[in-house]
Amino acid sequence: SWTMDAFVDKEIARIRKIVGPHGRVVGAVSGGVDSTVAAKLMHEAIGDRFHAILVDNGVMRLNECANVKKMLGDKMGINIKVSDAADLFLGRLKGVTDPETKRKIIGNTFIEVFEAEAAIIDKECGGEIEYLLQGTLYPDVIESISFKGPSATIKTHHNVGGLLEDMKLKLIEPLRELFKDEVRALGKILGLDDELVWRHPFPGPGIAIRVLGEVTKEQVEIARLADNIYIEEIKKNGYYRQIAQAYAALLPIKAVGVMGDKRTYEQVIALRAVETKDFMTADIFASAEWFVCLKRISSRIINEVKGVNRVVYDISSKPPATIEWE
Ligand code: XMP
Repeated sequence: SWTMDAFVDKEIARIRKIVGPHGRVVGAVSGGVDSTVAAKLMHEAIGDRFHAILVDNGVMRLNECANVKKMLGDKMGINIKVSDAADLFLGRLKGVTDPETKRKIIGNTFIEVFEAEAAIIDKECGGEIEYLLQGTLYPDVIESISFKGPSATIKTHHNVGGLLEDMKLKLIEPLRELFKDEVRALGKILGLDDELVWRHPFPGPGIAIRVLGEVTKEQVEIARLADNIYIEEIKKNGYYRQIAQAYAALLPIKAVGVMGDKRTYEQVIALRAVETKDFMTADIFASAEWFVCLKRISSRIINEVKGVNRVVYDISSKPPATIEWE
């Protein structure tokens, strides 16, 4: 649209003015819409003086890290560094089952790893990192001011306050006046793929809050494989755009089943798919043809993912249930 085109030009000019001819900017990317659009805009404005950092926390989706590196680095030409911190995160999550504790550990570890990487980059380029890019949207701004409910916790992992103080970085938030649909429109104008622009949201603590109970490498792998089959089928059958968010969770229980002439005793996958406008309330995605599709997805998951013998569909609305299980 004309307004969005104007926004792009104005914002690029504003960024260039703020950062100046030599200043550098660092920012975390996740592969999600917001951070990718923010990174693309920053790259358009200052090119290689923007340094993106992708923290591999060990609980991202199947092949996600490699895909994000390919998309931002190879395809979009963005300066990106992947920090492999999977073992660090998983080590700290060992034995932890409480959802809030998981979130705090991941949030704090994220800040620590990101800070360390930013400091290395700063050193490498002679202390010229002056700004921190964040893909904060208007609803995030409003929420962090006024909302003290569960969403206050949602944003904990975005809180890179230490970085701002220790490294004396100043914040740049080019999306802070935009709503989600405007960010998607902006992404389209900036030439991002539809696949990226229409991506479902993914929580910062990732699969750690979708593996109920203790998070281990093995459990994460099961959740990952099931989720990958689920999303693949959703896309293949043309449901992806109709669903606001879908994912597979791994339940911390075992169920009895039968395979050939043998009794099995294995784990349970819960599938979630919701429709929503603002993620504050949500309805389950449901239709007769969708249930037929779910049936196929269920057999694929049970056949292809070792350790799973049962799949259930979560039919709870938000409220009182949340979209995530933890
Ligand atoms: P709930 O589970 O509260 O989730 O209904 C609402 C939306 O927020 C996402 N979510 C998060 N996003 N960091 C994030 O960036 C988080 O810690 C987090 N927790 C939940 C959730 O996926 C849904 O889209």
